[in-house]
Amino acid sequence: MTSYRIALIPGDGIGTEVLPPAQALLDAVGKRHGIAFAYDSFDWSCERYLAEGAMMPDDGLDRIRHHDAVLLGAVGWPGVPDHVSLWGLLIPIRRSFQQYVNLRPVKVLDGVPSPLRDAGAVDFVVVRENVEGEYSEIGGRLGRGTPDELAVQEAVFTRKGVTRVVEYAYALAETRGQHVTSATKSNGIVHTMPFWDELVAEVARRHPAVRGDKEHIDALAAKLVLAPESFDVIVGSNLFGDILSDLAAAVAGSIGVAPAANLNPEREFPSMFEPVHGSAPDIAGQGKANPLGALWSAAMMLDHLGHPEASAELLAAAFGALADGISTADLGGSADTDGYTRAVLDRVGA
Ligand code: NAI
Ligand code: MG
Repeated sequence: MTSYRIALIPGDGIGTEVLPPAQALLDAVGKRHGIAFAYDSFDWSCERYLAEGAMMPDDGLDRIRHHDAVLLGAVGWPGVPDHVSLWGLLIPIRRSFQQYVNLRPVKVLDGVPSPLRDAGAVDFVVVRENVEGEYSEIGGRLGRGTPDELAVQEAVFTRKGVTRVVEYAYALAETRGQHVTSATKSNGIVHTMPFWDELVAEVARRHPAVRGDKEHIDALAAKLVLAPESFDVIVGSNLFGDILSDLAAAVAGSIGVAPAANLNPEREFPSMFEPVHGSAPDIAGQGKANPLGALWSAAMMLDHLGHPEASAELLAAAFGALADGISTADLGGSADTDGYTRAVLDRVGA
């Protein structure tokens, strides 16, 4: 029996509704593969922020530093500024644990209607740089409230930071379709993006079997809609990767389906797995959230922990229920969270 200790951070809104299905599936699939999970749950959330003035305790990071992985639902709630939930919880975890790869697979699934007319064999992965780039604290505002008010925000790109994430993307492409598309904007952003392009070219030379393309972010966004089946691995900076992965999730049919992994590839620290969607205050508490994004994220966790077969089994069950026509309202179906979860559990014999 292999056992793992998982830190659970359900967070806010539907975050608390999609993690129990993920736990149930992990336990069921784990049982068939000799894997046991022990969970420690943390109430870090906007609710905690409103009650105690902080998203997590001062020693929060230390409390989860030695877990094997972190599974997160979603954080954010009306009345708490989004930058509080982001900078008070998600970004400290991503940065302190050097989770510099944000991995977001995108597939058009059987049973999930894509808003695109001819979405065929869409199957690609967005690799987003996750700890530097445009999301920096460097900058400031001057002359507040005056006609000459100004704001400056610096983007930070380092040789080490760019090279390691692009290296990850190329290595990933070698296990898939041998194709990397780099998101750039070196025609308009004249310092950081040419640097990005140069570093991508250096990495590409080390992977001669992989076809390397680069596209300006605007043209790339258009191509994601017009020809989504032409991509294999897309690598982008923090901002570009963030935007592209939400766009890609929409192309695939619903934000409720999309998973994400925040990886520390060196495994010095736990990696974090979370659905792409937020806390969905509009449907929270109604029991109708789609848990697939969380289930898929749990499958990515199994994969990261070294159990690709268990991961594939979990995914096959989740996708199989969809293909059988069992889906939640966001996908046009009539199942609630429990109903869809039950159908997936049945498929793994639980
Ligand atoms: P959202 O993803 O929570 O919701 C967008 C729309 O998609 C809503 O209509 C919602 O009902 C629907 N939706 C999302 N997930 C769904 C699911 N699993 N099943 C069915 N429908 C689903 O994005 P929104 O409304 O922009 O943000 C709400 C809060 O969540 C904000 O406070 C935001 O900051 C936070 N947020 C947190 C994220 C995280 O924890 N990583 C990511 C995105 C947003
Ligand atoms: Mg986003």
